[in-house]
Amino acid sequence: MPPTTDTTGTVRVRVHLDPADWSRHLAEETRRGLTDDPPWTPPVWFYDEVGSHLFDRITRLDEYYPTEAERSILAARSDEIAHLTGARTLVELGSGTSDKTRLLLDALWAAGTLRTFSPVDVSEEVLRTAATAIAEGYPGIAVDAVVGDFGRHLDRIPTGGRTLLAFLGSTIGNLDPDQRRAFLASVTDALAPGDWFLLGTDLVKDEARLLAAYDDAAGVTAAFNRNALVVMNRELGADFDPDAYSHRSHWDPVAHRIEMHLVADRHQRVTVRGLDDLVVDLGAGEHLRTEISTKFTAEGVEHELLAAGLEPVSAWTDPAGDVRLTLARRP
Ligand code: SAH
Ligand code: TRP
Repeated sequence: MPPTTDTTGTVRVRVHLDPADWSRHLAEETRRGLTDDPPWTPPVWFYDEVGSHLFDRITRLDEYYPTEAERSILAARSDEIAHLTGARTLVELGSGTSDKTRLLLDALWAAGTLRTFSPVDVSEEVLRTAATAIAEGYPGIAVDAVVGDFGRHLDRIPTGGRTLLAFLGSTIGNLDPDQRRAFLASVTDALAPGDWFLLGTDLVKDEARLLAAYDDAAGVTAAFNRNALVVMNRELGADFDPDAYSHRSHWDPVAHRIEMHLVADRHQRVTVRGLDDLVVDLGAGEHLRTEISTKFTAEGVEHELLAAGLEPVSAWTDPAGDVRLTLARRP
C-alpha cells in the first residue's frame, strides 16, 4: 500500500503503517509473547493516547531521573553537536513529544544548517501534535513526520543531505540484545557515509534508584503498565481484568536490565478473541513481562556501535554520570 500523505502548512505526515499489515504484525508478536514461558507482551501496547500521556507524566516524576539527565546533556552539548555534524536533516526515532529535541533543533537552527526535521513514531496522535507544534516554532523548517515502526521501516526514513539520526530516552534499552543488533545494523544501512547517529542510553547504577525509577510512589508507572492491558482489550478483543494485576519492577543483575511485570493477584483466565480465542492461564503470583529496560556501561555502548559498523566520535554524561549520549558516525 502506498503511504498516506497529508500536508498542513509545512507539516507533512506520511503513514508507513498499513493498518492491516501493522495489525497482523502486532497480533503475531502478541501471540508469540503470550504463548511463551514465561509470557510477555510487546511494549508497543503502552503507547495509545492515554499511555503516551502517562509516559509524559513519568518523565516529570522525581524518581524518573533519565529525562532530566538527558535534557541537561543536550542543554550543555547541542551547540557542539550542531557544529560537529552540520546536520541538514534531523531524524528522530520514537520521538513522542520531541520535547528535549527542541534543544537540538535550536542549536541546528542557530547554526543555520537545518532544513528538515523528521520525527518517526508509531503513535500517530502524539506524532501529529508534536509535529504541528514544532512546525509553528521553527518557521522555514520542513517537518516531515513519519508514522512508522523503527524496527521495520528505517529504510523509508527521509534522509537528504547530511543527516543526524537521534534515538533518545534510552528507548534502545527496551530492545533485547538480538533486537538491538538488528536495529543498529538497520541504522547503519539507513545512513549515508559521513552521516551521524546520536544515541541516549541509561547507565548501570545503584539498584534502589533504578527500582524507584520504574515503581514511583504516586503509582504513575503502575498505571502506565496496566494501561497496556486496557489497550489489548480494546485492540485485540482480550478480556484482561487490569485490577487483578500488581505492578512489579525487578532488577536482573546478569542481563543488567529492569524488567516490568504485571503479577496476577489470583488465578486469571484470559481469552483473546482477536487471536482466534487464544486462552492464557495465569496462576496466582504468575506474571506477564511487559517491558525490559537495559542499563549500559560506556564500554558496552561503544562495543555495540562498533559491532554495527558505527564509529563513536564523542560522548557525554550528565554531571551525576547517570545517562550517556553518544555521537557516532557512519564511516
Ligand atoms: N524519545 C522520547 C519518547 C520516549 S517513549 C523521550 O526521550 O522521552 C518511546 C516512544 O517510542 C513513544 O513515543 C512510542 O510511541 C515510540 N515507539 C515505541 N515503539 C516504537 C516503534 N516500534 N517504532 C516507532 N516508535 C515507537
Ligand atoms: N525508554 C523508557 C525507559 O526504559 C521507557 C519507560 C520508562 C518505561 N518507564 C517505563 C516502560 C515504565 C515501561 C514501564 O526508561
